[in-house]
Amino acid sequence: MDNKSDKKISPPLGGRGLKVFAPATVANVVCGFDVLGFAVNEPGDEVIMRLTNKPGIVISKITGDNGRLPLDPKKNTVSVSVEHYLKSNGRADIGLDIELHKKMPIGSGLGSSSASTVAGLYAAKTLLGDDTDAVKLLPFARKGEEMACGHGHADNVAPALLGGFVLIRSYEPLDVIKLPHPKGLFCAIVFPDVDVPTREARQIIRNKIQMKDAVTQWGNIAGLVSGLFMNDIDLIGRSMQDVLVEPVRSMLIPGFYQMREIAMEMGAVSFGISGSGPSVFAFTKDEQTAMQITQKLKQHLAKLNIGANTYVSSINDEGPKVLG
Ligand code: HSE
Repeated sequence: MDNKSDKKISPPLGGRGLKVFAPATVANVVCGFDVLGFAVNEPGDEVIMRLTNKPGIVISKITGDNGRLPLDPKKNTVSVSVEHYLKSNGRADIGLDIELHKKMPIGSGLGSSSASTVAGLYAAKTLLGDDTDAVKLLPFARKGEEMACGHGHADNVAPALLGGFVLIRSYEPLDVIKLPHPKGLFCAIVFPDVDVPTREARQIIRNKIQMKDAVTQWGNIAGLVSGLFMNDIDLIGRSMQDVLVEPVRSMLIPGFYQMREIAMEMGAVSFGISGSGPSVFAFTKDEQTAMQITQKLKQHLAKLNIGANTYVSSINDEGPKVLG
């Protein structure tokens, strides 16, 4: 993919500030470690961006982060990825003021840094009147992931940017494919209040795998993708099994296997870890079942003295959007 543009993009005359929302994402989708992800309607993050007269990027405000994120534009994933984008388009001369409003938990396994980064990049693209395809922003968004957790995986940033269900067919070169999905699929998300940093959750994964496990895994990935194309929710459900990563990472999530049992008994199509955790998610065939599952899992975690945030959403096909 070519990031460079011959056309020098220019902000529209009288360019004003704008507010952009970008959605949370569920990466891996259980069997597709680093290659599958989808976007949800909520939660998500908001960025307000304004053009200024002084070249360079300033982060003037961050809310909703409990002071955890840096205001230093050299250390914040939003400003760093936007800076790469401006430089690549020959517009390092532009001045930008960024406000980041975190509307979702950090370190949740729901693509928190991706939502912020994508909101920032989409705001910059819109503000500058750049009408190239949003997919061209992916390499810059990956810079943000690299900074956030030491690895530039795209299974959060790609669905946050493009919306819907996304396959990363290849990283070198980057080849990203949007997949169809059944319309009636709902997602129940539970974020237990425990800390699982992505960087560390990546370090505990085995580097070498058995051929028999690889065979199981690629059968499941192919089954899931087939189910998405065939609108076959049962095939999607039985394909969402992970013999490579989940057996290791589930140890970081208290009550993981009991939560799976509860969700499946209540009618979930599938259940697994969202991204690197600690959030877990279940697919369901209707919204009501998704709501009931989130409530039941929240009660279960409360018995273990663990608080939880819950979300219920259909799959978000829109990706980032300008709010005003
Ligand atoms: N694919 C990444 C991982 C997603 O599982 O580490 C991080 O949210």
